[in-house]
Amino acid sequence: MRQKLELTWIGKDSRPKLEPRILLEDPSKSYHANHRVRESDLFDNRLIFGDNLLALKALEQEFAGKVKCVFIDPPYNTGSAFEHYEDGLEHSIWLGLIRDRLEIIRRLLSPDGSLWIAIDDNEGHYLKVLCDEIFGRSAFVSSMVWENFYGRSNAAAISPAHNYVLLYSPMGQDWKKVRNLLPRGDESSSKYKNPDNDTRGPWRLGPIFAAGERHEGLMYTISTPSGRKVSPPKGSHWRMIEAQFWKMVDEGRILFGEKGDNNPAVKLFLSEVQEGLVPRTWWSHSEVGHSQEAKREIQALFPGDTPFDTPKPERLLNQVITIATNPGDIVLDSFAGSGTTGAVAHKMGRRWIMIELGEHCHSYIIPRMKKVVDGKDLGGVTDVTGWQGGGGFRYFSLAPSLLEKDRWGNWIVNKEYNSGMLAAAICKLEGFTYAPSDTYYWQHGHSTETDFIYVTTQTLNADQLQALSDDVADSSSLLVCCSAFKGDANRYPNLTLKKIPKMVLTKCEWGHDDYSLNVENLPMQHQSAVEPVPTKRVASAKAVQTAQGGLFDATATATPANVEVKP
Ligand SMILES: C[S@@+](CC[C@H](N)C(=O)[O-])C[C@H]1O[C@@H](n2cnc3c(N)ncnc32)[C@H](O)[C@@H]1O
Repeated sequence: MRQKLELTWIGKDSRPKLEPRILLEDPSKSYHANHRVRESDLFDNRLIFGDNLLALKALEQEFAGKVKCVFIDPPYNTGSAFEHYEDGLEHSIWLGLIRDRLEIIRRLLSPDGSLWIAIDDNEGHYLKVLCDEIFGRSAFVSSMVWENFYGRSNAAAISPAHNYVLLYSPMGQDWKKVRNLLPRGDESSSKYKNPDNDTRGPWRLGPIFAAGERHEGLMYTISTPSGRKVSPPKGSHWRMIEAQFWKMVDEGRILFGEKGDNNPAVKLFLSEVQEGLVPRTWWSHSEVGHSQEAKREIQALFPGDTPFDTPKPERLLNQVITIATNPGDIVLDSFAGSGTTGAVAHKMGRRWIMIELGEHCHSYIIPRMKKVVDGKDLGGVTDVTGWQGGGGFRYFSLAPSLLEKDRWGNWIVNKEYNSGMLAAAICKLEGFTYAPSDTYYWQHGHSTETDFIYVTTQTLNADQLQALSDDVADSSSLLVCCSAFKGDANRYPNLTLKKIPKMVLTKCEWGHDDYSLNVENLPMQHQSAVEPVPTKRVASAKAVQTAQGGLFDATATATPANVEVKP
């Protein structure tokens, strides 16, 4: 029996053994501005079309520990896609799917990074417990309440007005040391006035007592100019020791009111307070926008089109990215939807990676990002960021599985793989960086400065192996991955010989393309005799989409098009 405090669900113990796929760039869908608008323009942003579990796995080798901010807005599990199944199973599937993705996201986050997850009451509280398990309870920073709807609806007993944004960081509460403050808006500055023309500028009165009885010189009694005695009220203490108090009186930083009889108060000068505002957990619609604002932003970008159902407002992302990152940092969204995260990150000069499985990757994200790059998106946070266009992005899809079965059921290298793809894929599986050399035909990649890898579909004979061994310096080593070899493998001290595909067979699951929801594969609930057994997806993608995106729906599968390998 399990001994620890944990959330369990059906299927919790089964974890996929993921194939680290290579990503294939399709230059016809990548896009760049014609010229540099500014020195800091970013071109190596990435849009990945495909299931995010395989895509996140594909990113792991290059980006582990490098992503500064992850924002995800997964399907909230509000649809009725599972009406023929046990309710518990539906929640179990959602938790399992999210868990597998979050585990990779944890490895992608930089040590000072942060993860922000938008969620509502359907799964929010389960998600909190799940995240505590994955990231550690001490990694929880805060839970924001975002006022996504400010009207009143009759549909529910209590009209919902908010979503949550859960925030985790490997630094836990120490993340305060690296997070940014929010710019002080006009509203907060307007509280500072200068009725006495103080040369130090606008000021406001602040409290002089703090809560809690503390001694150490903080419990003295003073006389006001009118002669009244003042001590800290019960349960409080002065904010400064007495010597400091009188020094501040001399400097005109403490006021006693016109008649000199009030309790003292401190003058806080705008020029001396923190440069920005500490973020709070309450994110009002006036501060960061609401769901309708988000829809209007999409409608402005795509007038006349069916609007994307569940976008987030650009101001919401602006706030997240402001707090969590600095220019040049990497922002990742693996449930990209209409591409709000990438659009805002781009306008703010951050690098971005977005993953999206649905066709709207092509119908919304690409055209939206092209407008941003061209400086033709005039809505959202374009004004506040001063965005004028520039930079670009590269479009990728997932390569098919490296191995497929032949007609006798044996695993063979997928026929869609050319030699470049094969070398890149084997490098990834063996933990080498794919970097083919122009000088040495046998250098396809390296793991250190002196450890190389060579991938070939040839059968190598003893002469070829000897030639390779002679070519590789004595101080270096070469992993040779080939179809077969002849001779004694131990004869060459600087070579290690392995056979493809045998060498990789047990490394992961092969030929598994769909890790998104597939109702057909679920254990069936007991059906009554008259109830038809569903053989297809139970709910249409559209029905779920209207709730909050498809429930990890795989209606669109990436078909590797005319691809170019640029791992
Ligand atoms: C709620 S929407 C995100 C909306 C986004 N924040 C925006 O502002 O447009 C969730 C998105 O996740 C996508 N999605 C669901 N399962 C996915 C998966 N397994 N891989 C990649 N994307 C997925 C859906 O297609 C949908 O577009």
